[in-house]
Amino acid sequence: MKNSIITVTSPLLPNLEEFHEMLKDIWESKWITNNGSFHQQLEKALAEYLKVPYVSLFTNGTLPLITALQALRITGEVITTPYSFVATTHALWWNGIKPVFVDIDWTTGCLDPNKIEAAITPKTTAIMPVHVYGKPCDTKAIQDIADKYGLKVIYDAAHAFGVEVNGISVLNAGDMSTLSFHATKVYNTIEGGAMIMHDEKTKKRIDYLKNFGFAGETEVVAPGINSKMDEMRSAYGLLNLKQVDDAIEARHQVAIKYREALKNVEGIEFWDDMPGIKHNYSYFPIFVDAKNYGMSRDELYFKMKEHGVLGRRYFYPLISDFSTYRSLPSATKDNLPVATKMANEVICLPMHHALSEEDVNRVLNCIIQ
Ligand SMILES: Cc1ncc(COP(=O)(O)O)c(C=O)c1O
Repeated sequence: MKNSIITVTSPLLPNLEEFHEMLKDIWESKWITNNGSFHQQLEKALAEYLKVPYVSLFTNGTLPLITALQALRITGEVITTPYSFVATTHALWWNGIKPVFVDIDWTTGCLDPNKIEAAITPKTTAIMPVHVYGKPCDTKAIQDIADKYGLKVIYDAAHAFGVEVNGISVLNAGDMSTLSFHATKVYNTIEGGAMIMHDEKTKKRIDYLKNFGFAGETEVVAPGINSKMDEMRSAYGLLNLKQVDDAIEARHQVAIKYREALKNVEGIEFWDDMPGIKHNYSYFPIFVDAKNYGMSRDELYFKMKEHGVLGRRYFYPLISDFSTYRSLPSATKDNLPVATKMANEVICLPMHHALSEEDVNRVLNCIIQ
């Protein structure tokens, strides 16, 4: 029998009967969106689970980025990473802001703080780093630079659900952080996202902005957008929150098996857990050194595909290589040598809560020759 396909990810789905029960409540109340009861419950439950003061729910992880930039009135230039999903930089573009790409650190994939200061100009107003793959940025070094130059910091924390540094949520860093609850993420609400903020005043303003700027029945205080999460997905999110810890632990076990099996494979590099960090195992990137491994990244990627194992070259190409951005002065390969190398060597291996021992072995057999 032909082997089934092993996908790079698989959505965490709530129990269907429990979801039906909640849907019945929604049908009875006829309150299907606009800050309903499940929306309010999920915001509270997430704030508690994530150990953050305030959460505002959104329809996806892109709109809170766009809204954070609006809320903080960011203009001019923003320093960011080329090694991310395009939504990070698109959020700047949608606000008429020029992205300035800075290279990343090979040991984390995140913005290299040592290279930020050289990219600051009089037009720089903020830094937008990404906790890529859920690996925390050096938030202290970034905040020190931001404080020195009077810049705001907005973290694209789309991958960093539940990640903690010495017991404190990484989502508390900076002025604001944003999350994605897309189906492919550790925690999903099908489509969805959130913004994390430090105080009630900001939460109130963000709640206006995600509802067209309405501050009351007849008052509009800003050109807001519509990005409210509805009641179905809020209910779904409440159910998924109950099982996300088990899902993260299942991913952890997969990471342990991958690391054990790959540790002696020449030419394949991967990251270990970082001390003091509670990881979420959202991705398992490996880096293929063609010379030492004897096969290029793309050769391995397509070989895996032939065997029904779908990895992902994530993040390749770099955002700075897409047509919208490649003419920017900061988009050159010379400016981004580490990001260029990482984009050329990375494959994210299948990583999700439902991978069986047999699946993991099939993935590993493709890599270990
Ligand atoms: C780093 C990063 N930022 C932003 C987003 C956008 O999130 P969404 O797809 O929920 O709009 C994603 C989604 O994949 C992402 O990976």
